[in-house]
This record gives sequence, structure tokens and C-alpha cells, in this order.
Amino acid sequence: MSTRRAVPAGIGSYLPAQMVTNEELSRTVDTTHDWIVERTGIHRRHIAAEGEATSDLALHAARRALDHAGIGIGDIDLIVLATATPDQTFPATATRVQQALGMSHGFAFDVQAVCSGFVYALSVATQFIETGKARGALVIGAETFSRILDWSDRSTCVLFGDGAGALVLRGEDGNGNNDDRGVLSTELRSDGAHNAALFVDGGPSTTGIAGHLRMNGREVFKHAVRNLAEIGEAALESAGLAASDVRWIVPHQANARIIASTAQKMGVDMERVIVTVQDHANTSAASIPLALDVAVRDGRVRRGDLLLLEAMGGGFTWGGAVLRW
Ligand code: UT7
Repeated sequence: MSTRRAVPAGIGSYLPAQMVTNEELSRTVDTTHDWIVERTGIHRRHIAAEGEATSDLALHAARRALDHAGIGIGDIDLIVLATATPDQTFPATATRVQQALGMSHGFAFDVQAVCSGFVYALSVATQFIETGKARGALVIGAETFSRILDWSDRSTCVLFGDGAGALVLRGEDGNGNNDDRGVLSTELRSDGAHNAALFVDGGPSTTGIAGHLRMNGREVFKHAVRNLAEIGEAALESAGLAASDVRWIVPHQANARIIASTAQKMGVDMERVIVTVQDHANTSAASIPLALDVAVRDGRVRRGDLLLLEAMGGGFTWGGAVLRW
């Protein structure tokens, strides 16, 4: 029996032009290149220019993904955009991208799950495609975290960067087994008991201003490895697969130590893990599609490869997705 699958058709990403090294940061923040590299693996990050909004980053990434897929906007009837740094409180940043792409059909909306946003958005878009409610989707992760950082707080401001990534999905019929190309499973979790470990101290219905990111890094770290390994195993199990079947893990890029510990816990060699945190820092919902774009374009990820995506972020939220490229 044939099964409708959400199949990857193209990928694209965008980084703002301005790149800031750890050395440069250490001139304005009480930190050092060595501390940042040792604790996080980060060497540099990109920062959006004045006037450059999340939707601008998303638009560049979306155009590149459509070009890569070789399709026009007429073949897309759904945009799901994951962000915790929208242009405005409303309308959804996705609708701004929709308008800029010249798309006046279909529907577009935002998903908010902070650093897990891309996996959540991928899961949502997959349901629409599998049920036949959408034929083609743009799944975007786009962030301008530089706008919500407290640049006087060295324990957070050195960790994040701006960027966007976009994935084109198309509905295609598969055989219903895990040899099919496309999204084979997604698993999502959240636990609001941990709101206070990673949050923004503002918002429209509380302070009336956007606010700044606050994080208890050690607390997040403690939960990250366990949650990521568990969700990775759960996503694989629901597709009837094991970690040994995975060609590439494409994890959320927050910290090289979290990435390495999670891979070790799952018994996956680091040679099968895509790592871009050194170049992008933590770009929240943009980090997975940014990393995936790098690995597709440099030829590591090839058609037919089995991928495991996994992320964890504020909420806490966490999620995993298994897809065959
Ligand atoms: O996307 C999901 C969200 N985020 C994460 O996944 C982040 C999870 N957490 C982490 O990655 C790590 O906890 C951090 C990288 C944030 C921090 O690493 P750590 O090894 O947990 O360091 P720490 O917070 O225990 O701080 C160690 C020391 C402290 O000094 P004392 O108290 O030991 O004297 C900090 O004041 O490092 C100090 N410190 C810094 N020193 C230089 C904190 N930030 C800096 C800095 N430069 N930028």
C-alpha cells in the first residue's frame, strides 16, 4: 500500500554578512577566545545588520532552497516558520516571507519552540503533507537572537548567533517502509516545569517589551544530553530503525560538548555527526537547517542517506526526526 511521504526536495540557508570572532567579542565583553572554545566549541558567529529582520534572513534562505529544489513558489502551498525572534508580535513572520515570495495562495504560520523549533515545524509540515492538506511546504528556521541578548551578560551573549535555513518538502508516494525517501518519523516533547532555566524576561502580555534571554547554563546542559539521546532513540524506534542505521546525525548546534556527549550516549561515532557550531554559534531554530545545508552542499549528505535530527531548547522543548534524504 502506498504511503504519502514528505520528501526533501531542496535546502538553503543564509548568514548575515557581519561575522564576529571570539577575539573581537573579547574586546567588549569580559571573556576570552580560549574560554569560549573550551566550554562551547564556538569560534565565530554572524550578526544581523541594523534593519535586517528575521524575515529578511528567512527570505534569502527560502529562495536558495527553492532554487536548489528547482521549483517555483506555485508548487508550495504551506510555509511553517520556526522562530523565537519574530519581526513583530504579530503578524506571523511566515506571512511576511509568504508575501515577499509573491505567494498569495495556501497558508503560512509561525511555530515557537525556541531551539527545537525546526524539528517542531518539520513535524507539523509533515502532518499536513501526509494527510494531503498540503502538496509542497517550505519549513524555515530563522532567528535574530542578537536582538534579545543582554550584551553585558558574558554567560549568554557569547553563545548565540543569527541566521536562517529552509527546507523544501514535497508530497510523494512511498512504499510505506523505512527504505522510502522522506520524513519517516518525528517525536516531540516538552516539559514546562523547566520554564525558568531558559527564558526571555519580557513579552507583550507581561512587560510590554521584547526582553532579554536569561539562562541557567548548567541546568540546561544537565538535561540536554539525556533528553537528546532519549528523543533520538524514540524517533528511530518509531521508524523501526536503530542508531547503527543512521548515516548522519544533524543535531541542534548549541555546544560541541553537548553534541559529542549525546553522540557517545547513542553509540554514534563523531565522524557521523555534522558539527557547525564553531562557525555559526547557537542560532536556535535555524541551527539544524543551517548545518544540513552545509553538509548537503559539501557532499557529505547524499540522496538516500538516513538522517537523525535532534534538538532541545527553552520550555524545555525537545524533538527528534528521522528522514531519508
Ligand atoms: O540551545 C539550548 C540552549 N543552550 C544550551 O544548550 C547551553 C547549555 N549550557 C552550556 O552550554 C554551558 O553550561 C555554558 C557554555 C553556558 C557554560 O559552561 P559551563 O561549563 O557550564 O560553565 P559555568 O556556567 O559553570 O561557568 C564556569 C565559570 C564561571 O566562573 P566561576 O563561577 O567558576 O568563577 C563563570 O562566571 O565561567 C565563567 N564564565 C565565563 N568566563 C569567561 C561564564 N561565561 C564566561 C565567559 N567568559 N563568556
